[in-house]
Amino acid sequence: MRTMIIAGNWKMYKDLTETRDLILALKAATPSLPDRVQSVVCPPFTSLALAGELLKGSAFQLGAQNMSQHDEGAYTGEVSAKMIKATGASFVILGHSERRQYHGETNELVNAKAKKALAAGLHPIICVGETLDEREKGVMVQVITTQTKGVLAGIPAHDMANCVVAYEPVWAIGTGRTATPQQAQEVHQLIRKLIAQQYDWALAERITIQYGGSVKPDNAAEILTQNDVDGALVGGACLKADSFSAILKAAKV
Ligand code: PGA
Repeated sequence: MRTMIIAGNWKMYKDLTETRDLILALKAATPSLPDRVQSVVCPPFTSLALAGELLKGSAFQLGAQNMSQHDEGAYTGEVSAKMIKATGASFVILGHSERRQYHGETNELVNAKAKKALAAGLHPIICVGETLDEREKGVMVQVITTQTKGVLAGIPAHDMANCVVAYEPVWAIGTGRTATPQQAQEVHQLIRKLIAQQYDWALAERITIQYGGSVKPDNAAEILTQNDVDGALVGGACLKADSFSAILKAAKV
């Protein structure tokens, strides 16, 4: 049985005061989670240390939204895996479509970052997903295949066991337009098959594959009951304690 992981990607929202308010509200609304269900909050870098303190002993884990592919050095504005780990974080989102679109991140770069994250003992949440144009042109399978193979290249099996993959169709992010449960299941099954081809089925069956793209309290249950959907990467609906908690209630293994 796989672990279901519901992660909240705060993106560029919440200063320190707002971070404190949201985390206290989340802890009050969700004092515990069912077995095999985990939840991760991913605030901006500036809030990580505070969030790490506030989340100690809670049902939630902490994650970052990005990191450098370098260990340390003269890389102005960058943050390393070691720095993230020191805040109490255990996850890091990598290769989000907004990083790919606005910051030119490639599969090769995301792959290099994933290797650094794993070496530091972080669980990377590695994102893949096709654009609307790619889906309409009928090349979704090729795009997902290239991305999945690219981001996982050279990751050994013992490290792969610590990775999470997130399928995020770009056309569903922040648009209010969700993939149907069937569309999500189809791509999740494809991703699991690709992992099995690179490793084996036993490992592929253990990997958590999240769906992301306009997950809300009213559609979460239907998406999360699909066989190969093992959690969600939530954007907009994670910014309020009541909506994120409602999504957590829909998570059952
Ligand atoms: P959304 O974002 O839930 O606001 O669509 C999802 C994401 O970008 O991870």
